[in-house]
Amino acid sequence: MKLWRNTTLATLAPPSTPEAGADGWGLIQRGALLADGDRIHWAGAESDLPAGLSVDEETDLGGALLTPGLVDAHTHLVYAGDRAHEFELRLSGASYEDIARAGGGIRSTVAATRAASAGQLLAGALPRARALQAGGVTTLEIKSGYGLDFATEARCLRAAREVGRNTGLTVRTTYLGAHALPPEFEGRPDDYIDAVTGWMPALQAEGLVDAVDAFCERIGFTPAQTRRVFEAARALGLPVKLHAEQLSDQGGAALAAEFGALSCDHLEWLTDTGIAAMRQAGTVAVLLPGAYYFLRETKLPPVDALRAAGVPIAIASDHNPGSSPGLSMPLMLNMACTFFRLTPLEAWQGATVHAARALGLSDRGTLQAGHRADLAVWALEHPRQLAYGFGHDPCRATIVGGHRTLS
Ligand code: NIG
Ligand code: FE
Repeated sequence: MKLWRNTTLATLAPPSTPEAGADGWGLIQRGALLADGDRIHWAGAESDLPAGLSVDEETDLGGALLTPGLVDAHTHLVYAGDRAHEFELRLSGASYEDIARAGGGIRSTVAATRAASAGQLLAGALPRARALQAGGVTTLEIKSGYGLDFATEARCLRAAREVGRNTGLTVRTTYLGAHALPPEFEGRPDDYIDAVTGWMPALQAEGLVDAVDAFCERIGFTPAQTRRVFEAARALGLPVKLHAEQLSDQGGAALAAEFGALSCDHLEWLTDTGIAAMRQAGTVAVLLPGAYYFLRETKLPPVDALRAAGVPIAIASDHNPGSSPGLSMPLMLNMACTFFRLTPLEAWQGATVHAARALGLSDRGTLQAGHRADLAVWALEHPRQLAYGFGHDPCRATIVGGHRTLS
């Protein structure tokens, strides 16, 4: 068994568990945590450490803060090229949608990604994953969606799996073939949806798909086309999620909820109907403050209404070259508080337990017995300080499945 001691624990454990605190943080001063293999065996006050256990490895954390590792539930980490020039165009007045309609945007990243080899895609994605990890991330989702043909979608999803193997991080893959219309299908979006659904079984058979996503938007796909993608996913037993209500209200959230979606993401234009449908389906709202910030949006997601309805709120980086080229979950916590007025505790829950749920994972996100020993060590006294600062780098180590992977 491994022991981490002389630490302040923030368990974030739910009220029904022995590791819970009165205020949601579950703060335990002079705490300790025991891991058996890749699972947490025990977490509590060092003075209460269970006796008679054989500890093979002991780490004195010198009073540092120990929390669950962060979960980044929405990234587009595998791609080639960048879109710095489009950033300049947007700063001089062009809109994200204008650029997409003129053939730039996602399509320009698709051209660069199709031209990249498997090795080049992995070489690009690995440092990005390590940057996220350096900010405390131990589980992340990676979407395809910059290939838009079978071979390149498969190459991107394989690169995502390789990121997991190379870093030790848990990587959940999402097939986002319905991200944009590739040029060879210009004017034939329904034919392209046929292709997207047609590729799905082979990608699944190769073990490349944990979930299926689509971009339901004026510059993406219609609700009817999105429904066809979801029907194909359901026929294969694959869970779905959706880029919904980012730039306009398409009724995407209600559609996704109808399919029992794990999550609906973005949601700036979400309506009460969408919220009610998400609540009923148990769908997580994944808010993406990086995209809100970088696209200089002004329409806020309906946080108060989500909260009032009891819809779990997660936050994620949405790392991608067009709308959110950032690689720091701590910054996302800060922006979720400043822009969206989440409390620091809500932001933490949004980047841990609710984010895990958005990926269909119920074995991580808190420090409680039986959960995975996915941990982050911080040079902080209280976790609220992570959401308070920005541009700082207080993560000292991450531990994934009981193994220290980064320090
Ligand atoms: O989550 N909205 C659609 N997809 C991405 C952006 C993709 C891009 O611009 O390359 C997003 O914001
Ligand atoms: Fe996205």
